[in-house]
Formats: sequence, C-alpha cells, structure tokens
Amino acid sequence: MCGIVGYIGSHDATSIILDGLQRLEYRGYDSAGVAIMNGGDIQIARDVGKLSNLRERIANNPLTGTTGIGHTRWATHGVPSEQNAHPHLSMNEDFVIVHNGIVENYLELKDELMAEGVEFRSETDTEVIVHLIQLHAQNGANNDLTESTRRAALQLRGAQAIVVMSKHARDEIVAVRIGNAGGVAIGIGKGENFIASDIPAILEHTRQMVFLENRQIATVTARGYTVQSLDGTPITPQIHDIPWNPVSAARGEYKHFMQKEIFEQPQSLTDTIRGRIDFEHGTITLPDLHLTPEYAQQLKRLVTVACGTSYYSGLVGKFFIERMARLHVEVDYGSEYRYRDPILDDNTAVLAITQSGETVDTLAAMEEAQEKGASLWSIVNAIGSQAMRIADGFITMNAGPEIGVASTKAFTSSIVDQYLLALYLAQLRNTLPEETRRQYARDIARLPDLAGRVLEQDSYIEELAQNFYEVSDFLFIGRGINYPIALEGALKLKEISYIHAEGYPAGEMKHGPIALIDEHLPVVAIAVKDALYEKMISQIEQAKARGGIVIAVATEGDDLIPSKADHVIYIPEAPEMLNPIIAVLPLQLLAYHVAVWRGADVDQPRNLAKSVTVE
Ligand code: AGP
Repeated sequence: MCGIVGYIGSHDATSIILDGLQRLEYRGYDSAGVAIMNGGDIQIARDVGKLSNLRERIANNPLTGTTGIGHTRWATHGVPSEQNAHPHLSMNEDFVIVHNGIVENYLELKDELMAEGVEFRSETDTEVIVHLIQLHAQNGANNDLTESTRRAALQLRGAQAIVVMSKHARDEIVAVRIGNAGGVAIGIGKGENFIASDIPAILEHTRQMVFLENRQIATVTARGYTVQSLDGTPITPQIHDIPWNPVSAARGEYKHFMQKEIFEQPQSLTDTIRGRIDFEHGTITLPDLHLTPEYAQQLKRLVTVACGTSYYSGLVGKFFIERMARLHVEVDYGSEYRYRDPILDDNTAVLAITQSGETVDTLAAMEEAQEKGASLWSIVNAIGSQAMRIADGFITMNAGPEIGVASTKAFTSSIVDQYLLALYLAQLRNTLPEETRRQYARDIARLPDLAGRVLEQDSYIEELAQNFYEVSDFLFIGRGINYPIALEGALKLKEISYIHAEGYPAGEMKHGPIALIDEHLPVVAIAVKDALYEKMISQIEQAKARGGIVIAVATEGDDLIPSKADHVIYIPEAPEMLNPIIAVLPLQLLAYHVAVWRGADVDQPRNLAKSVTVE
C-alpha cells in the first residue's frame, strides 16, 4: 500500500517528508517522490525503487521550501517508473497531487479530459484527478484549491486518499478521504502541521492527531486546519492523543522490526491486559465496548470477520467465547463475508479483528453488517483507524506500533483481547461462577511471564532453522484450539521465507495430506499436554512411519515426545486456553530465522503490504 506525508510550517519540508516516508516503508512500495512549494514554483523529485534512490537524487538537486507533499507508490495502474511515480502535475503545472487508492472510473474521465485537449504524461489513474482539479479551478472554482479539489473529488468512484498543493494557494495543503484507501491523519503541531496516511510517519513530531472520515476534505495551513464533508458541511473532528512513543516505533537494537516485535510480546501482552482485570473479583472492564448486561444476555450469536493472521486469531477466540460465555461464534473471512448477503438480526453482533484497522475487506464486511443492523465491534491496534471509528464499540490491542509486515505481537494481543471479551461476556451473561472467572483472570495474568520463558529458546530455534531453510515445503498440524496456530505458523513461514507451507487439522491428515509425507517434508506438530495430546502423539507416529521429519512443540516435562519426534521445542506448562498464545511464539521464531537464513526481506516481503487497503 502507498504512503503519503505532507508538511506545512517553517522547517525544511523535504527532510521531514523523506523521514516520514521512511517510517512508512513497511507498507511496501516500488517508487517514491516529493513536491516542494518554493515561492511560486513547484519543485519535484521522483525515482523508482527504494527511498535511498530518491534521497540521492535530491542530494544532487536539493529541493528548498517549507511546504510539501511526498509519496511512496505501490503500483496499481502503470508500471513502477519515474513518470508514473507521484507526485503528478496538472497540465498547466499549477497543481500537484499525491494519491492512494484506485479511481474506478478513470478511463471514462481520461477520455473526457483528452477530448478537452488534456495531454497525459503517465499511465496512472491518479493523473486524472489533478487535471480535473485544474479544470475546476479555471471553470467556476476561481482557483480556490479546496473548492476545486472538492468538485473534482465528487466526480471520482472508488476509495481515495488525495493530498494536493497549488501555486494559487501556496500557504495551504488540501487533503481528501473517500472510502478506505488508507487513512488521512492531520498531525497538529505548533506553527506547523502534518499530513500522513499512517501514524508512524509523523509520530516523532506530534501525538495530537485528527483523522478524516469517509467523504471529508481538509484545508491545512501552518496555523491550523478546517474540515468539511464533500457536500460542504463544516466538521469539527475529534482530536486523538496517540499513546505510541516514537522510540517504540524505531527498531532499536534488533535486526528487523519483526524480530523486535516478537521479543516485545511479554511487554505488549502486559499492556493488553493492564487495567482491564479486577483479579480479586474476576471482573473485566472494557468501557469502549459500551456493552450492557441486557444486550449481552439477549445475544444469540457472534460473527467474527477478519483476514489473514487476524482471521486465525478469530478462530482461537471462538473457543474462548463459546466456552466461557456460552455464545455461538462463527468466524469468517472478510473477503468472503462481504459478498455473502449474510443473515443478521438484532440478536447477532459482528466482531472485526484488524491490526491496521484499514483492511478493505474487513471494513467492507463491517459496513455490510452495519447496513443489516447488527451491533458492530472491533478489535484494533491502530488508534484512530477506520475500524475503530465506525464500530459501535471497540477493544484496542495496545500492542504498540507493529511495523513488520508479518503480524506477531498484534496476533497474540488480539487473542488476549478475545479472552478478555469472553470473560466479560461471561460476567454479563452470568455463565460462569465467580471463582471460575477469578481463576481464568489469574491464568491470563501469567501469560507475559510464560511468553518470556518461551522466547529464551531463540538460539535453539535459530539452530533448528538452519536445518530447514532450504526445504521447499512445510506442513503444520494441530488439533482443537491449537489448529488455528498450525494455520498461523504456516502463514508466518510462507509470507516471509517464500517456502510453501500448509496448516492442517491433524485429524485431517488421513484424508489426503498424509500422502505428502516423506523425508523431504518437515512436519511441525503442536503436541502440547492437553485433552488431545494422545491424538497428536498418534499423528506424529503416523508421520514418522512414513519417513517424515517431525518438529514437535511440546510441554516442558514431557519425556515421551523426544522418542517420537526428531526435534522438540518445549513450552512451559500452561492452562489449556493459554497454550495457543505461547505455542505460536516458537513458530514465529522458526519462520523468522528460516527467512533470515534465506536472506529474505523479512520486514517487507515481496508482493505484500502491511495494510491491504485495495481489493
Ligand atoms: C499477517 O502476517 C499478514 N501480514 C496478513 O495476513 C494480515 O494479518 C492481514 O492482511 C490482516 O491485516 P489486519 O489485521 O491489519 O486487518
């Protein structure tokens, strides 16, 4: 997904914008550019590839000015090239734009513009927007940048985030948000203001931010900002105080953000739990859910919608909520749910799980649920994200910024959020005696320490990874509450090492996958001491009988497993419902080290983006 940074104030805009774009690198991109307003001139520098290429170009031809916009592009229309990179100029070069999203009606707009004599310089859909702005400025909007942009935006179909400057309005930047093409945040400074598609880009400068909602336009100057809806209604947006600190967003002493985030989990899990449990009474407080006992008791069904790793988190949460709150839970992919014409009623709530809060398929599923009258909750990590703001109630993950494309700490925090939700629902629905709730509360409080003990095995897992980084396939198997962890372990490995990997319910092996087993196929078996342990031992024996190589995730003290598996990664003994949260940690480390041994781009894997805001 693309990144946008804008600055208007009294400092050097170029360095602020480039540093901001650098903090958005994790979103994935293939070209970048900057436009700086210098008096009556618009100076532009663009390049393909990494930001270092753009920095070098600017070092040779400096851009000076205190107002500017910048962009990292993830090509959707037109190949990655300098002339397709943003920013893009209008034909008369009075207007310049950066843009996230897809103009779904750009071909018809392009035909209309070409019929009016407009000459296009790029293959992008973005360019139609800046030409429309120029035409509106010349025909009726009297060069007013906000009005010209507003009128152009009304002609666009699809989700957009647009940021534009003009020679006719040198002391302002205009920003528009339509739908879910990544966010538009306005960072509030002193005598300066910032614009960004994502919080980390400007967090070192300010923690005070407002977020544009769907179909809103902002006029930003060095002294302040105004916001209105596209129909012209003035808006007073809420100012959010963002709790993330810039230091935590930096990689620190780690080699990769993913490594840092794996090892942050004892802390992030602590932050997720903090302040939400009264251990003495076993009661939970989740005030942002705005949940009443009456509504909790009338609930008959919960539908969880999410994508990727967040979907697997939902599969784990189903066990918690059904067992503690006795509430039926269905878990669905956002990309499927949004087109299913789902059956919903006022006894059904929909829960969206999304780290970024901007995943377009999850947001679309949320909107589908809202249109059908269901209560809508979300579990999000990104404060101020769309999924947080459109829900009737939300639970924040409090995991801190997750920069690595492969989700790790957000995954475990989102599972804990569902554990807390399950306990909270149990409390409101009176489905558990107080003592049982107290025990569950005491259990989850042990999690950060248990996680820390698992991570102490990092060097053993790094050595283990050295045996397997050249294989071409992996199989991950688990049962019950640990089956989703097999799915997650496979996803972690494949998305950062590019090794084909599958997660499977262990009981399904005999229905086909066991045909795959041979000495070339490592099988990771989650065989912790729980009610299904014996079944897993049998599964391991079946794999071994066919020459398979088995890596078992087992419970400390299990002295049978070494005689069954080729390699054993032990995790501390834990209550059954905590096992998935600590069993995933060795799989995160295994994926990480295999990818590092393969020399892969761990934090920015090919073809992937941290926030998938296009279909
Ligand atoms: C996870 O490692 C992947 N990067 C991906 O599956 C991710 O979980 C998915 O895109 C959903 O993202 P979200 O949680 O921000 O909605």
